[in-house]
Amino acid sequence: MHIPEEKISEILNTSDIVEIISESVILKNSGRNFFGLCPFHSEKTPSFSVNPGKQIFHCFGCSAGGNVISYVMKYHGITFPEAAKMLAQRYNIVIETKDISPAKREQLNLKENLFRLNKKVMEVYSSQLCTSAQGEAARNYLKNRGTTDDIIQEFGLGFSPDAWECVVNVLKKQKVLRKVAIQSGLVMERKQSKGFYDRFRNRIMFPIFDINMQVAGFGGRVMDDSMPKYMNSPETPVYNKSRILYGLHASKQYCRQLGFVYIVEGYFDFLSLYQHGIKNAVATSGTALTSDHVRLLKGYASKMVLVFDSDAAGIHAAKRSIKTFMQEGVDIRVLVLPEGNDPDSFVVKYGADAFSEKASKAKTVMQFLLQVSIDTHGLSVEGRMKILDEMKEHLMLIHDGALRSLYVKELSETLNIDEKAVLEKVREQVVNQVAKKTFLPGSEKDDKNEKQLESDRREEQVISMMLNYPEIIKEVEKTDTLDYFYSEKLKRIAKKIIMVDSPKDAFVTKVMASMKKDEDQQLIASLAMNDFLCEKEDIHETALSIINRIIRVRTKQENTLTSKIISAEKGCNSELMALLKQKQDQIRQLHDR
Ligand code: CTP
Ligand code: MN
Repeated sequence: MHIPEEKISEILNTSDIVEIISESVILKNSGRNFFGLCPFHSEKTPSFSVNPGKQIFHCFGCSAGGNVISYVMKYHGITFPEAAKMLAQRYNIVIETKDISPAKREQLNLKENLFRLNKKVMEVYSSQLCTSAQGEAARNYLKNRGTTDDIIQEFGLGFSPDAWECVVNVLKKQKVLRKVAIQSGLVMERKQSKGFYDRFRNRIMFPIFDINMQVAGFGGRVMDDSMPKYMNSPETPVYNKSRILYGLHASKQYCRQLGFVYIVEGYFDFLSLYQHGIKNAVATSGTALTSDHVRLLKGYASKMVLVFDSDAAGIHAAKRSIKTFMQEGVDIRVLVLPEGNDPDSFVVKYGADAFSEKASKAKTVMQFLLQVSIDTHGLSVEGRMKILDEMKEHLMLIHDGALRSLYVKELSETLNIDEKAVLEKVREQVVNQVAKKTFLPGSEKDDKNEKQLESDRREEQVISMMLNYPEIIKEVEKTDTLDYFYSEKLKRIAKKIIMVDSPKDAFVTKVMASMKKDEDQQLIASLAMNDFLCEKEDIHETALSIINRIIRVRTKQENTLTSKIISAEKGCNSELMALLKQKQDQIRQLHDR
């Protein structure tokens, strides 16, 4: 899809990067910038910054960066035109999409068709539940479970009748293409004959919404003890299970307000809590929590409470998720409800206050893991050694030293083992791990920083200044500074910047829009975020001195080498000559990264 340049400008001028990013990241104002936890890598302290003046974002941790369009692309994992379109829609900007490539058009069409079909099917299921004769059993089922009409309406609950072709008929009536039908996951192909049959039959239906309130898929529950109890849509082009959490479309505002989110397992767990006024929750609904899920949630709440059934499966699930949370650096508590309860049954039986009361006493992860370990191994001598062995692995995942020693203390008290001995065990584990790490790649980033060339740094400084103080550009042009740049990449970028014609206050925004490559945008974002500490009057002088140094250094180095080459030529020292030329090439290459 080709979107005209002026539309792109309009989108960039109209949209507000802080507003857009705020929807997915909690931003705090600090001086000229906003800071928050980067959605693109795991971190505990905010290094993700957004500058409203320049309309750019930059992460000092992972160096992701760009403008509002690149953010939307990266965050939602969509293409440039899709992101532009999404923003355009939001700000009521009309773009015509005639020039789109056929393949892309088809993909977009498919998604739109799937969403439309899902919505239609949701309406059919919903009317089946509310008005059909067959729906009576389903109505009674929900009534017995205490689900109110409000909840049924708000979450679009429905009923799939006990028939093979309810949805199939909808597909026929809507003239849905075969391809769309197959990809929807709503129907299955018959094996013996031609045609399709419904996937969901005789079940209470839960539409699963994505964050934009579009119906991505369905879950369905039987109304008796038959198996399988739940059935879910498969992954489809619009249903990415590792990125969608049940209920988040409705609960996100409450998660924001309260700063924490309950993570429960089931559809009914979520709905019952919501109905009882505990609206800051999401349900994993049968999928394992992924780091994508956690990052998504981090945009809405900094604290999370995992609520699990106290049965073995629940505890297993909790243990599995904890690692994901720890790796994402999230403040997480674990709430295990009394034997035989899940959040739904608990809140129905005891009410919201009792639930909140229990939740306020939710265990820290370490307390939880310790309890599980004790329950498994018991407190005999051998049991305690096993517990210690298990716990040291968890303890070393805690990077905060003070916090770790608190847990070490608690552990030593609980197990009645000398604190020093516990500490020694943990240290052993850490040393082992560090030894392993040094043989593994992964620390390249530091190396790279160290290796960063002096010249690159100066050249980057010049570009930073060009971006922040466009008046410097004429000096750069006057002195032909770019001819003295070693880095071809920086030279190319600087040349592009010079070409940009824009009033000063929108300069960075314009430059950003002129960069098509992702890596160029990232570089621009990081350079534009560079704030100079010197006074405004000194900027000019500072710039000139850097420019001078760039020119001087390069001239000097070239001169030395060239004169050596010349004298080698004179003395007919061909070996030395070759060596020197090689060196000249090497220097060039070094800077051409
Ligand atoms: N689940 C699933 N497939 C199954 C069983 C469960 O996808 N065969 C998912 C469902 O999303 C379900 C959640 O896992 O909501 C939790 O399962 P479970 O605890 O067994 O069900 P409850 O939510 O407690 O359901 P109910 O209260 O209706 O019995
Ligand atoms: Mn339940």
